[in-house]
Amino acid sequence: MKILAIESSCDEFSISIIKDGTILTNIISSQIEQHVNFGGVVPELAARLHLENISWVIKSALESSNTKIEEIDHVAYTEKPGLIGSLIIGKLVAETIASYIDKPLMPLHHIEGHIYGASIENEFVYPVLAMVVSGGHTQIEIVNSPNEFEVIGATLDDAIGECYDKVARVMGLGYPGGPKIDKLAQKGNKEAFIFPISKNDDSYDFSYSGLKTAVINIIHNLTQKGEEIPVADIAASFQYAATKIVEKKLEKAIIQFKPKTLTVAGGVSANSEIRNIIMSLGKKYNITNTFVPKMEYCTDNAAMIAKLAYEKLKSSN
Ligand code: KG4
Ligand code: ZN
Repeated sequence: MKILAIESSCDEFSISIIKDGTILTNIISSQIEQHVNFGGVVPELAARLHLENISWVIKSALESSNTKIEEIDHVAYTEKPGLIGSLIIGKLVAETIASYIDKPLMPLHHIEGHIYGASIENEFVYPVLAMVVSGGHTQIEIVNSPNEFEVIGATLDDAIGECYDKVARVMGLGYPGGPKIDKLAQKGNKEAFIFPISKNDDSYDFSYSGLKTAVINIIHNLTQKGEEIPVADIAASFQYAATKIVEKKLEKAIIQFKPKTLTVAGGVSANSEIRNIIMSLGKKYNITNTFVPKMEYCTDNAAMIAKLAYEKLKSSN
């Protein structure tokens, strides 16, 4: 059984083909270079650039997997959430292919896809506790099957990656700022500044706008006084506050839900501290299936959508 999957929800246009659970190809056209000058993703530009990439991405996905379009049995695509212009393009491409070969369409959820990106190289044992940390989302989910996702907590305002990017912009580090802050944090003192650990309560929800404002205020105050900005110390103290809350909420969820798999997904899972937190919590609570997927499957990609489609079909047979 071959499934062709399309992911186009933000600034990546990607096509993957999966055969009986094995990813044959995962072609990703990334636009990061084109958005850098604007300090973030420009929705209209993202949709226009997708249009330029459709043909070569389809062609190279088929060629690199040695697949003829008629051999595809199902066409999966990201239906939501995401940038509307970008999503529509993915849907149109999916509908066109599916109607041409007269095969069923599978509209899928982007975040559920992110979670299944973690199951490409490691089989899930249920229940799964998944932390989704990206530029657009901060979410904890309990997954009982490829059809049962329970969102137990989400951000009430900014997503964690968005917070990293906005703080980095004020620090003059450029876009995307997450990796730059992470790198600087290694050289700084995390106790130099005390930033708020927001939503430090019994809920599983997150809030990052207060932390963002606190860091930006410190930078503005220092600038007004003409003082040098201790960028490494600010980065380290910010990273501590931003990730400590993830650790606290995850630990509480582990105790309550007793997962058999612990994992993380989304671009911020590249963060050194987030990775340490996941691995050390897995060790502390003896969760043998604890893993951090490789970056290709953490950031937006169609392989994660393909794997979700495959697992859904397998579970319905
Ligand atoms: O999942 P993703 O590629 O795109 C979205 O769907 O949002 O995530 C991108 C986000 C950006 O905010 C970027 O700054 C952040 O992931 N990021 C990091 C790191 N690497 C990427 N944030 C913190 N530390 C990192 N090492
Ligand atoms: Zn994403």
